[in-house]
Amino acid sequence: MVHPLLPDSVKVLPDTDVEGEWARFAPFEAMHHLHDICNPMTHESLESLLDRLAPTHGERMIDMACGHGEFLLKAAERAQIEGVGLDLSPWVLTRAIERTNGRKLRGSVEWWLGEGASLDKKQQWDIATCLGASWIWHGFTGTLRALATRTRPGGRIAIGDLRTKVGIDRAALEAVIGPNTSMTSESNQIEAIREVGLEPIHCYVSPDEAWARYHRLVIESADTYDGPEPAVDAKTMAREWQQEFERDHRVLEWTVWVAKKPGPPAG
Ligand SMILES: C[S@@+](CC[C@H](N)C(=O)[O-])C[C@H]1O[C@@H](n2cnc3c(N)ncnc32)[C@H](O)[C@@H]1O
Repeated sequence: MVHPLLPDSVKVLPDTDVEGEWARFAPFEAMHHLHDICNPMTHESLESLLDRLAPTHGERMIDMACGHGEFLLKAAERAQIEGVGLDLSPWVLTRAIERTNGRKLRGSVEWWLGEGASLDKKQQWDIATCLGASWIWHGFTGTLRALATRTRPGGRIAIGDLRTKVGIDRAALEAVIGPNTSMTSESNQIEAIREVGLEPIHCYVSPDEAWARYHRLVIESADTYDGPEPAVDAKTMAREWQQEFERDHRVLEWTVWVAKKPGPPAG
C-alpha cells in the first residue's frame, strides 16, 4: 500500500513487519487522524494523571501503545525525563513525531515501533503506562503484570481500561454484554493491583461524555479521511463502534488506575 515514509528517528524493534503494520493499522489511522488522544481522555485528565505519576528529573518513562504520543509529550514538558513511546502502528508514530514539533520539551522522547508484548522484560522503568491497549496482554491483570515487572521499586504505573460501572450487578451486565463476560469490576481491579505487588493510589473514572466525544471524533475522522484507502470501510466501522458504545456505556466505564511499586524512592 502507498503510505508515508517511516521517519528515520523511529527505532524499529527486532522482528517487526513494518510493511505489514502499515497495512494492518490503516483503518485505525482513518478513524483517528483528528485525535490528539485516542481514548476517552481529555488534555486536563492526562495532566491530572501526571500530577499523580509525578515524573521527575532523570527518570525513565515508557508509554506502551502510546498512540499519537500526547501523554508522553506532556510528561516530557513537565520534567527532564528520558521518555519512550512504543506502538505497533507506524501511522501513529509518524503523527507523534509531527506533534513533537513546536513543543517545549524539557526531557527527551524516543519512538519505538514494535509489538508491546515483546518488549524486553529486563529493562526497568521509573514510570510505565498503558492507556487503552489491554488486549496486548489479554486483559487488565496481564497488562498490570507487564507494567509491574518492568517497573523498578519506587516506580509508578498507569493503566487505562474499561470495567463494569460501579453499582451495576452481574445480571445487568450480562443482559447488555452477554453471558460469561470476563469484564473486570472495581474490586477485581483493586485485587489485581495488590496481587502484582503494587499499591493502588488513584482511580480516574472518565465521564460518559468524554467517551461519547471520542466516538464523535472517530466518525468525523472516518468521514473526512482522504489518505491511502484502508482495506475496510472506515466510515461503516466507525458507526459500528459508536453503536457498541451506545450499548456498553450503560454498564461499562473507562478508568485509569495509578499505582506505585513499593520500594526506595529514586536516588
Ligand atoms: C486505543 S489506542 C490508545 C493510544 C494512546 N494510549 C492514547 O491514549 O492516545 C490503542 C493503541 O494501541 C496500539 N497497539 C495496538 N496493538 C498493539 C501492540 N500489539 N503493540 C503495541 N501497540 C499496539 C495502536 O496502534 C493504538 O495506538
